[in-house]
Amino acid sequence: MASGQLSRAEALACTNCRHACHVMLYCDTQNKLFGEIPIKHIILMQMRFDGLLGFPGGFVNPSEESLEEGLSRELLEEIGVVVPISVENHVQSCPDEDVDTRLILHFYAKKMKEEQILEIERSAASTAIDHGHEVLGMVRVPLYRTEGGGLSSFLSHSFIGTARQQLLDCLLRFGLISPQTLCHALSISVATHK
Ligand code: GTP
Ligand code: MN
Ligand code: MN
Ligand code: MN
Ligand code: MN
Ligand code: MN
Repeated sequence: MASGQLSRAEALACTNCRHACHVMLYCDTQNKLFGEIPIKHIILMQMRFDGLLGFPGGFVNPSEESLEEGLSRELLEEIGVVVPISVENHVQSCPDEDVDTRLILHFYAKKMKEEQILEIERSAASTAIDHGHEVLGMVRVPLYRTEGGGLSSFLSHSFIGTARQQLLDCLLRFGLISPQTLCHALSISVATHK
């Protein structure tokens, strides 16, 4: 494991730490932009109340709920659908090195069917209790390159915490983009946040 990373068990052993869980929900798609540019995958992020991009999820209290139950509860609040999350969806756990090392950030990823992702987008805007409050809207990550930008422009926005790095890690980890395409997008993105 890379430095700073904790196993799920090590992270839970830190009893005076706070915990937050977030998840990348995604699917494959055959759809094309303008009928010609393959979209390939729909990856859901959100515009948060503070104007930063992040993943759905939030604070979990392990003395009251498991990490995965707490993440599902946060998803119900933020996207309005029950999405079961299991230990198999766990990607990594790290202390928040920037602001508070006693906050442990747990990250998950779950591949879904396209129809389920579309259902989440519909309910996020209509039934989620946090919509218009903590969550300003769900957004998709453009993985392609267009004349004006695409992924490089998306990566130039401001992200909460390590969300940008979590996105980049998962793109490579799950083979959602080629390393060359990602390197190119990074080389022309204006990274004000890591
Ligand atoms: P409240 O209901 O207002 O407490 O918010 P919440 O429970 O939904 O918590 P939130 O999603 O804001 O996450 C809690 C903390 O985790 C934040 O204060 C950030 O420090 C951090 N955080 C939020 N989103 C992300 C994310 O996508 N990635 C990472 N790495 N950290 C995040
Ligand atoms: Mn148009
Ligand atoms: Mn929340
Ligand atoms: Mn919360
Ligand atoms: Mn949240
Ligand atoms: Mn809340």
